[in-house]
Amino acid sequence: MIHEPVLLKESIEYLVINKSGFYFDGTIGFGGHSEKILDQLNENALLLGSDKDKEAYNYCRTKFENDFRVKLFHGSYKYLDIFSKIEFIDGFDGIFADLGVSSYQLDDKDAGFTFRQDSVLDLRMNKDEGEPAYFYLNTLEEKEIADLIFNLGEERSSRKIARRIVEKRKEKEFKTSNDLKEVIAEFVPSHKLSKTLSRVFQALRIYVNNELEDLEIFLDKAVKLLKPGGRIVILTYHSLEDRIVKDKFKYETLDCICPPESPICTCDKESTLKLVTRKPVTPSAEEIQRNRRSRSAKLRAAEKL
Ligand SMILES: C[S@@+](CC[C@H](N)C(=O)[O-])C[C@H]1O[C@@H](n2cnc3c(N)ncnc32)[C@H](O)[C@@H]1O
Repeated sequence: MIHEPVLLKESIEYLVINKSGFYFDGTIGFGGHSEKILDQLNENALLLGSDKDKEAYNYCRTKFENDFRVKLFHGSYKYLDIFSKIEFIDGFDGIFADLGVSSYQLDDKDAGFTFRQDSVLDLRMNKDEGEPAYFYLNTLEEKEIADLIFNLGEERSSRKIARRIVEKRKEKEFKTSNDLKEVIAEFVPSHKLSKTLSRVFQALRIYVNNELEDLEIFLDKAVKLLKPGGRIVILTYHSLEDRIVKDKFKYETLDCICPPESPICTCDKESTLKLVTRKPVTPSAEEIQRNRRSRSAKLRAAEKL
């Protein structure tokens, strides 16, 4: 299998509440979740899907070419409002996103997502937009590199890594994953190397793809586009994205955001969501054993009021 879908049964159970409803899968990937969503739906239903990755998009175009209920877009899920306008849809019964990267992207040598194989250090999901990761290593200020490694990779030796990168690029510009790996391997002990590299690659990937900004924009639009009773289900794979989802859902459940000392409510805030999962749902031990990449997954679901 190119990519094994994570928390598949649970995602569908939380998401599909109307068999003839309209659904959005923002991260179609290789269509694992979409396929199961479609299995639950009847011929009056519709599924819009998007993916930033051209290969994933093309794969799903072929996979679902005979299913008239499916409309696919190549691009970020943050354009959800535009995709729905194109299809004359003004509300969804279910909105889903399974964040991060697919196993295919991680294993694809040419995509440069992993430090385990040497390849061009690109890390973009959509090669038509933005700049590859090596461009930023060659051009950002030392402090900017340190901050992004610290903030997006939660890596403590971020300053040291940034300093070494800036020293090294004076001799030779960065181009490949091995260029970066060598710099880090010079001072990180071998038993810590994998963890450090994972954090640095994660930070670069999040930065290059504007992952956190896209997620915030998407969640804002998704909440507005859900029909009353409609569900939003999000799968995250690291604490930064999970915190954004958790905080957004929490904020949307509040009906007052006045300071606690304020005697009366003057904020006019209305709650728009109720939580369906109080705590995040995580994969079973059996799923983690079968699919190691599921181990950090967290599912959160909420319902529009
Ligand atoms: C974990 S995979 C999804 C796998 C999919 N659920 C399946 O079962 O095959 C994540 C996918 O999200 C895509 N992606 C990540 N950020 C995106 C964004 N902002 N907009 C659209 N797609 C995005 C990636 O390109 C990748 O294909």
